[in-house]
Amino acid sequence: MDYSPAPESPDLAFEWLQKHKAGFGLFINGKWHKPKTAKVFKTVNPASGQKLAAVTEAGKSEVDTAVKAAKLAFPKWNALSGHQRARYLYAIARQIQKHSRLFAVLESLDNGKTIRETRDIDIPLVIRHFYHHAGWAQTLESEFPEHTPLGAVGQIIPWNFPLMLLSWKIAPALAAGNTVVLKPAEFTPLTALLFAEICSQIGLPPGVLNVITGPGETGSLMVKHPDLKKIAFTGSTEIGRLIREQTANSDKKLTLELGGKSPFIVFEDADLDSAIEGLVDAIWFNQGQVCCAGSRLLVQESVAEKVTSRLKTRMAKLRVGDPLDKSMDMGAIIAPIQKKRIQKLVELGQKEGAEIWQWQGKLPEQGCYFPPTLLTNVSPASTVAQTEIFGPVLTSMTFRTPDEAVMLANNSAYGLAASVWSENINQSLHVAPKLKVGVVWINCTNQFDASVGFGGYRESGYGREGGHEGMLEYLKQKNEPSGTYKRLALKSVTKHSKTLNTELDRTAKLYIGAKQTRPDSGYSLPVVNADGSLAGEIGHGNRKDIRNAVEAANKASGWQSVTPHSRAQILYFIAENLETRADEFRNRLMKLTGVSGKQAVLEVETSVKRIFTYAALADKHEGLIHQPPMRGLALALNEPIGVMGIVCPDESPLLGMLSLLLPALAMGNTVVLIPSRPFALAATDFYQVLETSDVPSGVVNIVTGDALELGTVLAKHDDVAGLWVTGTTEECANAKKFSSGNMKIIWTNDGKQLDWFDNQQSEGREWMRRAAQVKNVWIPYGE
Ligand code: NAI
Ligand code: MG
Repeated sequence: MDYSPAPESPDLAFEWLQKHKAGFGLFINGKWHKPKTAKVFKTVNPASGQKLAAVTEAGKSEVDTAVKAAKLAFPKWNALSGHQRARYLYAIARQIQKHSRLFAVLESLDNGKTIRETRDIDIPLVIRHFYHHAGWAQTLESEFPEHTPLGAVGQIIPWNFPLMLLSWKIAPALAAGNTVVLKPAEFTPLTALLFAEICSQIGLPPGVLNVITGPGETGSLMVKHPDLKKIAFTGSTEIGRLIREQTANSDKKLTLELGGKSPFIVFEDADLDSAIEGLVDAIWFNQGQVCCAGSRLLVQESVAEKVTSRLKTRMAKLRVGDPLDKSMDMGAIIAPIQKKRIQKLVELGQKEGAEIWQWQGKLPEQGCYFPPTLLTNVSPASTVAQTEIFGPVLTSMTFRTPDEAVMLANNSAYGLAASVWSENINQSLHVAPKLKVGVVWINCTNQFDASVGFGGYRESGYGREGGHEGMLEYLKQKNEPSGTYKRLALKSVTKHSKTLNTELDRTAKLYIGAKQTRPDSGYSLPVVNADGSLAGEIGHGNRKDIRNAVEAANKASGWQSVTPHSRAQILYFIAENLETRADEFRNRLMKLTGVSGKQAVLEVETSVKRIFTYAALADKHEGLIHQPPMRGLALALNEPIGVMGIVCPDESPLLGMLSLLLPALAMGNTVVLIPSRPFALAATDFYQVLETSDVPSGVVNIVTGDALELGTVLAKHDDVAGLWVTGTTEECANAKKFSSGNMKIIWTNDGKQLDWFDNQQSEGREWMRRAAQVKNVWIPYGE
């Protein structure tokens, strides 16, 4: 059967461009600005190479003006009631709905993606996002009573889903009461500018939303701007890492949604025809320029040949061409530079031994197109199996057993999404928790919804967009720490004991894999009592000790599959054993820190209570069941982060340490702990409590020494997945900067002083959230 062309008319979009004389300024403080001195650049239609419009490049002074407008608009916007903000978001949703055809056509023209996708997927998701978040605005005060917005936030988005990613960023930001400066990608600024116009039409107060256009440099100016309280970025891992390093020295909140190399796993008992259709959607949707594209096919050996041959038959039938033709499956690649990148990677794949099979149809003569491509015989370590190609290229590998499938799937620096295809729901739900990814689609792929969080593990970034967890990324706790954190000065021994103190013969060793171990350095450090007498000695831990501790923590990963009930039991046992030794700890705290007996008792008692809290929460930090608009459910599971490094505060050495350790343990993480240096003996005394409480070996490891030095080693270690640092501004900045390698999930006190006795600040769900990451598992049902 032949198709005749079924083009959607671009007239509506060209009329709109004409109305603006195909030249756009920056949308700042509710008005269009065209500074005379600013550079302009053009945006083109990738399907034809034709220029669509000229757009203004925002430089330093324009970025400053936009940020200032957002900053000034914040107090009033924040002072509105949730209901008032909800009305604006609702009005935005209605307007987009009204103009949906214009948006769909304009998006297709500017980006090269098919009208079928913009009309049926992008724009409906955008509308849904604003409606859903109008609801979060409406209920903000009751749903998030402990939280307040951040202020003016900066948002930087890529070109692959221009309007959709705009909505993922703007809707939660505004719903939470923040004001926004958004920069669309240089290839695709037009729908963001149309969106700005719509916001102005519905009367959104000036300065609440500012849209500035420009290249990476404009984004970089935003990242460095001191008045933006958060940067939300979607784009390449390379730039994400750079942004993380550039914001390390600030208390800007940061969420990163980065690249991926998502596995598409087909088991032999899958409905193969559905799986093939899913695969088409996974890798040829939006020409494969999708961060969560199912670009790595992992197929069980017994059905591999069948799948490959059916896939080729299906691929041959794909229609590639004019994006505005309603019957096209695939449109144009964003730009020649991207096409070259794809081409180069495909050639490299062939050089590395992959076999290539390509769609044989005729590509349009003009414009930027790349044929659907399949690479088979790909080895797991090869470049094309590891690197994000961001184009219509599928790599294929085989596996024999479910375990091997999981191993191959996780053999990636990324962790954005995975599809699992099997008619055996037992098998799928067994595999889903083992995949180190933020989203799992069972017997489906590329499902998105405003109510369901989206975001990655590992180098795919951190933070979630959508749903409850997405809202939290635009809020902060009302009761934030304040005051500058200072490490206590180390004392030297000034008081020498006349009688021989037998305690001193003993150097408190490190605690690694449930064994007391001598430090690799062979050196020890003195710990001095408040009165200047020597309290004892601790091991001087170094890089090697941290490595051993991380290895032990890694081996103890079984802790995460211990049932929450059993974890709770062990935590209660810790509390009980600490209480048994309450006098011993009280004396230690009094002597070491010089606090009164009353204060020391309070610290021990509060510590016991805190352990009880986390024992209680261990089996109560449950996930959610979402009901997105599909026949199916999405399970939001709270999962542990993995191996966590924790750098403890000096003050309240027992309570401070336990306030950090316990939520991490309750969530199922294993921990390498760096206790307070001046009061380390409070931590080393705690070994005995751990030893008598049935805590499995390797779940808690303690390395004593210098916080900055050991914190940096933890930050750089690729097997550490999460890092919490309470310390000075320098320690916090250091931790953020040096942990960008594997994009650790990080929390720091940003150099501020926490009050460990304040339950609101230092205890509870917020800490369970910090110790967890959310995985959403989509499960469709019905025939
Ligand atoms: P990119 O990461 O450079 O650009 C994304 C956004 O960040 C754009 O708005 C850009 O102007 C801005 N930007 C660039 N440099 C910046 C900086 N130093 N500071 C602040 N903002 C900056 O991605 P690009 O160049 O468009 O594509 C390069 C590759 O990245 C693609 O081939 C693809 O592999 C990958 N990519 C992945 C995406 C994803 O969603 N996973 C999205 C876009 C690109
Ligand atoms: Mg364009």
